[in-house]
Amino acid sequence: MSNKIVLTGIQPTGMPHFGNYIAALKPAITASQTQKTFMFIADLHALNSVHDPKTIREHTYQAATLLIALGLNLENAILFRQSDIDEIYQLNSLLMNITPKGLMNRAHSYKAAMDKNIANGDDIDAGINMGLYTYPILMTADILLYNSDIVPVGADQKQHVEFARDIAGYFNKTYGETFKLPTPVIGHETGLIPGLDGRKMSKSYDNTIPLMAPEKELKKKIMRIITDSKTPEESKDPDTSTIFQLYKHFASESEISEFAEMFRRGGMGYGTAKNILFEKVNSVLSGPRAEYERLMANPAEIDAILKHGADRARPIASETLARVKRKMLG
Ligand code: TRP
Repeated sequence: MSNKIVLTGIQPTGMPHFGNYIAALKPAITASQTQKTFMFIADLHALNSVHDPKTIREHTYQAATLLIALGLNLENAILFRQSDIDEIYQLNSLLMNITPKGLMNRAHSYKAAMDKNIANGDDIDAGINMGLYTYPILMTADILLYNSDIVPVGADQKQHVEFARDIAGYFNKTYGETFKLPTPVIGHETGLIPGLDGRKMSKSYDNTIPLMAPEKELKKKIMRIITDSKTPEESKDPDTSTIFQLYKHFASESEISEFAEMFRRGGMGYGTAKNILFEKVNSVLSGPRAEYERLMANPAEIDAILKHGADRARPIASETLARVKRKMLG
């Protein structure tokens, strides 16, 4: 176990699909088996787009419960709700004063929102609030509050972590050595996770498999995977098959090579292959699914776990904030 401080934030965006699981949740859960981590549900980050408190609360429970049900190691991972630590907004406000506006202008997420407005012929600032504009500062506060060294993120978040590094650098230059410079680590190349139609799995293509789909729905979705029209006898290429590409994230090394061999050998129809995929996925997910349902019906238990996490995180946050205030205010 390295003594580097690792931190990950997970946005509460509703039920993740297989693609999210493979790219983000699974690596975080695997890492928690051997690595101490700060892991929080970033409910404050959701505020710039979700204005219904009930939705935010529910999605926060959902994200936390999923992580727990899928086997997050709660000894190693300090799991908490971002908004349970008041220090976060104080550090966020203080960092505003050393963050160049120009840096925020360059944020991909903000630029994408402006580009959309331009394309639609709307006012350039339409629908853009200051929460969206300053999103990278809040993320910087998350990272610096817990003295993080390593921040595992998806490729889309890399720029935000680089901003955190820049802002930490500006702070150190202005007030003297205060923050470590965090490093983004882009998750394992999980490759493209194909959806039911073979395109990238994405809500916007309506081709996803929800992670906690009940058994019947899971089977129905898997049976809908689009394949080519090879006959059962023909040899098939596992590397271009959605069935195989999904299977390999749930099976063991030996099962994966055996399944690949069955594709290449011929004699296995796609219907059979889909059944094998379903059985595998269902056997991996049926335990977590039951635990997910049990915990979601017991919000007091989730609250207790999140409170315990916040109690572990808070002393570190208040130490950092005190240090920053001393540096800035004397
Ligand atoms: N912005 C991240 C995302 O959308 C979530 C997040 C918030 C985060 N704060 C963070 C990730 C701090 C890493 C570190 O996925």
